[in-house]
Amino acid sequence: MIPDKAPKEDVFHGSEELKKEAHIPSFEKYKELYMKSIDHPDEFWGDVAKDFFWKTKHTGPFLEYNFDVTKGEIYVKFMEGATTNICYNLLDRNVHDRKLGDNVAFYCTFQKHLSAPQRYQYESISNRRRFKAASSSTEQIELDRKSDTETAQRETDREGKEKTRPVPQVPWDPEVDLCWHSLIRGASDECEPEWCESEDPLFILYTSGSTGKPKGVLHTVSGYMLYTATTFKLVFDHQPGDVYWCTADIGWITGHSYITYGPLANGATSVLFEGLPTYPDVGRMWEIVDKYSVTKFYTAPTAIRMLMKFGSDPVVKYKRESLKVLGTVGEPINPEAWQWYYNVVGDKRCPIVDTFWQTETGGHVLTPLPAATPMKPGSATFPFFGVVPAILNESGEELEGPSEGYLVFKQPWPGVMRTVYGNQQRFETTYFKKFPGYYVTGDGCRRDKDGYYWITGRIDDMLNVSGHLLSTAEVESALVEHEAVAEAAVVGRPHPVKGESLYCFVTLNDGVTYNRPLEAELKKQVREKIGAIATPDYIQNAPGLPKTRSGKIMRRVLRKIACDERDLGDISTLADSSVVEQLFQNRCCPAV
Ligand code: WTA
Repeated sequence: MIPDKAPKEDVFHGSEELKKEAHIPSFEKYKELYMKSIDHPDEFWGDVAKDFFWKTKHTGPFLEYNFDVTKGEIYVKFMEGATTNICYNLLDRNVHDRKLGDNVAFYCTFQKHLSAPQRYQYESISNRRRFKAASSSTEQIELDRKSDTETAQRETDREGKEKTRPVPQVPWDPEVDLCWHSLIRGASDECEPEWCESEDPLFILYTSGSTGKPKGVLHTVSGYMLYTATTFKLVFDHQPGDVYWCTADIGWITGHSYITYGPLANGATSVLFEGLPTYPDVGRMWEIVDKYSVTKFYTAPTAIRMLMKFGSDPVVKYKRESLKVLGTVGEPINPEAWQWYYNVVGDKRCPIVDTFWQTETGGHVLTPLPAATPMKPGSATFPFFGVVPAILNESGEELEGPSEGYLVFKQPWPGVMRTVYGNQQRFETTYFKKFPGYYVTGDGCRRDKDGYYWITGRIDDMLNVSGHLLSTAEVESALVEHEAVAEAAVVGRPHPVKGESLYCFVTLNDGVTYNRPLEAELKKQVREKIGAIATPDYIQNAPGLPKTRSGKIMRRVLRKIACDERDLGDISTLADSSVVEQLFQNRCCPAV
């Protein structure tokens, strides 16, 4: 499946200097370890596990599973019987066993909310509350809210002249409320770890589902820990002295796996950034790279495309000589953006790791290794250790050699999701029913003559906007909840920066007139219900939608209308073809 020899033509290689220090220095070494990870997973993961702390050893095999719905319930168990604590492994182990206690864990560039001038007092409170919300329990937030408000009250009183302004009052019930400051005074900063079972839940992260309702993806302790640690170490070729920077949002899976767990498990030094890559100017990223001497940099294709629009001047203004490896995640990277990233940002010196993975996979599953894998711009190249990809046709047959079809995985790796929280049936239906025996990614994929994998995009009703997955059904239901809307259909329209933009068709209820204020209201509604990333780019009034005789909306036709492409293919199943012409005439944006 993986070629014995890497191709020599039309590929890019990591530098000799990088190969000298790399964990996996050659394609041959990659292939040898890959085969070991598949043929002897116990040995492979057993070696990885040696670096971690286990309170008790596992009792069963490293990996036990059923991936075939026809044989019973789907399950994955990794290192069953072992007990450990992930926080102990991420922090205590680095301090006590690895003697990294004085190393920087995170260079933090959060704004100092506390130093905000008085007259911005109230905003500062709400900012602090928002910041804390990311890391505190609900009770803690409530207590912080009380103490923030009290502080604000004292400061306002002191200012005197502000006395007339109403200060928010927080009710205090001595039966249930406790004062944070008195509680924390005298509390010990030691907290004994809770020893967890390997398969205990670690976290649940919600991701869009094609039926509209988000799915709670459940990850468990040991498998996720070892998988994020290993992918981080090998994909970014982590070395002592590295300064790593991942620009992702910490609430996204990329922030979980590759800002928090992966880097900390390796005792890495990271830059943590909260802000915009374009503020105060478009050189912001490279300024930070120089300021902290960043060696490994990880971002999304959408950010690269956005910065590319401003040309190379804002990049070459900075040295960037510390950079060694560049990474991308979240969506296919178009070869043009890849070349710009490689030539301009990385000065033709830094390999690009185009990492394909999902919230569900926990960590990278198709990816180059920087010193070992010859790169092709736009290809996520080959599987990571323990991962066995296949390409299936519509009938579920495995395709060999150069081919295109559904991307699936044949067996689990330690970091794969365990279930959809509270809904095992949905887990099995979404990922395992279509092709029994395989985990179905929902992505299309092509394999070329050299065995390289190229992701071609989602094949379900999902959109990828700036690297974030959105379900069309979710946006449609947010639109339909508005009292003016009878029906909505949402499709993706290619966008030069965001990858895809949201083009929404809405059919209004009888008697309602379409106008700008209504359009603004609809955009606001989607934004509030789902989030800023889902704000529709275009809304078109659609008195009728193209439907089949059985009433199914033909999204394929709507996608053509959104792009003003007249070649509609076979539309003989349309119930009323006159709506199509009407929609073409009322398009609301210029051709792509
Ligand atoms: C897409 C993000 C092509 C893909 C980590 C996948 C990619 C979805 C790549 C998961 C890549 C992610 N090349 N497509 N390198 N990385 N995708 O769950 O469609 O937010 O299924 O996880 O993003 O998105 P999610």
